[in-house]
Amino acid sequence: MTIKVNNTQAGPKISKYIYGQFSEHLGRGIYEGLYVGEDSKIPNVNGMRTDVVEALKEIHVPVLRWPGGLFADTYHWQQGIGPKANRKRIVNTNWGDVVEDNSFGTHEYFELLNQLGAEAYINANIGSGTVQEMAEWVEYMTMPGESPMSELRQANGRKEPWHLKFFGIGNENWGGGGNMRPEYYSDVYRQYQTFLPQYDKDQPIYRVACGPNEDDYDWTETVMKNAAQYIDGFSLHYYTLPTGDWINDKGSATGFTEKVWYDTMTRAALMDRLITKHSEIMDKYDPNKRVNLIVDEWGTWFDVEEGTNPGFLYQQNTIRDVLTGAITLNIFHKHADRVKMANIAQMVNVLQAMILTDGEKMLKTPTYYLFDMYQKHMDAELVNLVDEDELPNNVTYTASKKNDELTISLANYDVANEKELDIAFDELPSEIKEATIITADVMDAHNTFDQPDNVVLQKFTGASLASGKLHMTLPTMSVVSVTLI
Ligand code: AHR
Repeated sequence: MTIKVNNTQAGPKISKYIYGQFSEHLGRGIYEGLYVGEDSKIPNVNGMRTDVVEALKEIHVPVLRWPGGLFADTYHWQQGIGPKANRKRIVNTNWGDVVEDNSFGTHEYFELLNQLGAEAYINANIGSGTVQEMAEWVEYMTMPGESPMSELRQANGRKEPWHLKFFGIGNENWGGGGNMRPEYYSDVYRQYQTFLPQYDKDQPIYRVACGPNEDDYDWTETVMKNAAQYIDGFSLHYYTLPTGDWINDKGSATGFTEKVWYDTMTRAALMDRLITKHSEIMDKYDPNKRVNLIVDEWGTWFDVEEGTNPGFLYQQNTIRDVLTGAITLNIFHKHADRVKMANIAQMVNVLQAMILTDGEKMLKTPTYYLFDMYQKHMDAELVNLVDEDELPNNVTYTASKKNDELTISLANYDVANEKELDIAFDELPSEIKEATIITADVMDAHNTFDQPDNVVLQKFTGASLASGKLHMTLPTMSVVSVTLI
């Protein structure tokens, strides 16, 4: 089978922010997973655990969404500044009713970003907070000159303002963020964004409005109709559950059947239809695609691991997550003209994580290696196939060009059949610079603290360039990436 790649033509840029992450005050996502405090025996820099930060630096996290999620609409930022001993201890009512001691707050978040080299994406509390509280938070973070909040920030040890790139106005306000109707949310959004201070006129803060849950097209229609001119990014949330059944059966992260494997792939692929349809509605009110679609929560969601707190959303991560992740990222690339940011949920110890920790121990998940592999596509130009229908069954594709290199990534989610294919080009590359693979022999292969290297990024030897074509054999359950020059 030969598929043809249009490599002389370049499509839109695949924004690096599609590789964004999300960390919420949820379970061990922040506490233990990222932040252990300066006095911890776990090696840390200013409280951030060194092993996790070093691992994340390798995948160049471009942006980190914080503090939630649902937690965001209960968060009062003033409780998380100043001397730690004085910070208010509250109850995290969304996630397990555990004590939140607010020891990780605004200063700690920006310290983490600084260590990671990532941009800020903060989600404001509009569900239970006020306009003034939001405006003062932004003043605290971004006001360079003299002002009450700027002086408070300086009194707390930070002279210069921080750079706040992205700002979400509410989270899931159709549900846990206030159970609002779209008409009402549109007005609330218009009001809050009016009072968002913009001190840096050259780099205005990018405003993200709460978009739809999954296929709630009415939400998109109503909010776009009423507020599009005030919105920069419109968020979409969609999680991959094998059954789509939130109440009775999210399914296990490991130990599933072949049918469940394929159901999970089908559910992941639904992202394409969701983006297409929401984007069509957005086109009605924003034909020039000024407003971006921001998929700021996505990933797999399974039952929690046995014996763990149900409110902590801790799940294993397998080769199945690599395949659903590749399907999803390939879809984001395909829609690169509209999708400009995405944030997988969540970076450490929660849902489809990059990293799992257990006290002092940590491991990189299979999904981490997918993000590592796909770095080549960050800020690269999309390269399309001539005819998508030429792809073999159960195979998805993406490709991009950057710095005179062409990277083609293919995912074969067939559990039984390897796929042999040839790729023909408009312009023939001269050599394979690098080829990598993530694969496994069993459907739920995963990494453990005792065996952290079961599923990793490896060199791929199944690709060759001959007779004007790239020849490849894709093993079962694999993602392969080949970079050509
Ligand atoms: O990511 C976990 C939760 O999923 C988030 O807090 C919420 O926004 C979504 O429902």
